[in-house]
Amino acid sequence: MRPNRLLVSFILVTLSVYAQLSEADVPPEGVPNLAKSKKDRQKSEKLPPCRACTVLVNSFRDGMKRTERSKHDGGDAAWEEERLGSYKTSELRLVEIQEGLCRDVGRGEDQCHLLAEEHEPQIEEWWKEHQTAQPDLHQWLCVEQAQVCCPDGFYGPNCDPCPSCFGNGKCKGNGTRKGNGKCACEEGYGGDNCDSCGPEHYEAFRDEGKLLCSRCHKACAAGGCTGAGPNACRVCRSGWIMDSQRGGCTDIDECITANTCTKQQFCVNNEGSFSCLECDKSCDGCDGDGPDMCKKCTDGYELRDGMCTDVSSEKRNQYVAFTRYLTYLGLCIATCIVLQSSTWLAALVGLAVAVYISVSEYWLNTEPQGTPAPSPKILEELLQQ
Ligand SMILES: *[C@@H]1O[C@H](CO)[C@@H](O)[C@H](O)[C@H]1NC(C)=O
Repeated sequence: MRPNRLLVSFILVTLSVYAQLSEADVPPEGVPNLAKSKKDRQKSEKLPPCRACTVLVNSFRDGMKRTERSKHDGGDAAWEEERLGSYKTSELRLVEIQEGLCRDVGRGEDQCHLLAEEHEPQIEEWWKEHQTAQPDLHQWLCVEQAQVCCPDGFYGPNCDPCPSCFGNGKCKGNGTRKGNGKCACEEGYGGDNCDSCGPEHYEAFRDEGKLLCSRCHKACAAGGCTGAGPNACRVCRSGWIMDSQRGGCTDIDECITANTCTKQQFCVNNEGSFSCLECDKSCDGCDGDGPDMCKKCTDGYELRDGMCTDVSSEKRNQYVAFTRYLTYLGLCIATCIVLQSSTWLAALVGLAVAVYISVSEYWLNTEPQGTPAPSPKILEELLQQ
């Protein structure tokens, strides 16, 4: 009795330990947690001052849109007009807007709430006194009152004008009280005002206010080019050669000059380089892709109609036919041996053999036309006789 009880309690303990372990294996709602923490991180992200002020203003504008009321929802038009007119700038509407302020702005939401609190008096002042005369809240709050932004196209503490950057770059600090006003040019452009082309680019178009640069042809090396195409290169990239007569870069056909492919590969030239591709599996060396491009056929293949063709299955069929006839021969010899002891028995066996041979030959020759190979099952049966 005692060992039994011991065993039962052992099993119970093992089971409970296992249950706890497997529970611990399950990740505690890993994915939603991660998503939530990402949202939280965005919420608590700290944005640069101008950006933060802009987020607040945009949220306020959204609130104004939300509290806009349709003009014609019935009733006396004049009375509606007056009522809406007063609602438009009313304390009631301001409170409604401020209730939803900064909600779901995503990045910098926490900062937005802090800023809204800090600027509440200014926003209220604008709402009551400046809204009609100066409808742009961003300009009023972020540029003039908080002095964290500049108008578009101005930068730095004193809001100096940005250079134009020729439309091919961005002014550093554009629209903020930060930055140095230098141009950050787009790829392919250079110069202080992005008014020249970068390395490996050429001028495709230029007038007073516009410059377009294009990338040099791929045949051109780091020296750049004077225009479009491989003929305008100053220096040729490797894989290309300067043609002194035509005055431009010409592709080198590496397949002719320096064929470095192995015996089982063929060479393909392309612009600026070349590649080695594997020959068809029927080939022993080749000049191109496919079984018709072989120099020689590999083992098990023979040249037919200009193509290396698989002959191994044919050989196998011949072998199968040979063993079949050998089996028939063996059966006939067996019949002859029986004949020496009993004519009746030999006649019986002979008949059976004749029927077997004709049935199997008939079957083999009428089964799927065109595929002379018998199915593996029939073959096995035949060879086992
Ligand atoms: C400055 O920003 C405004 C708006 O974002 C843009 O329209 C303007 O082209 C920018 N100017 C420069 C020089 O980056």
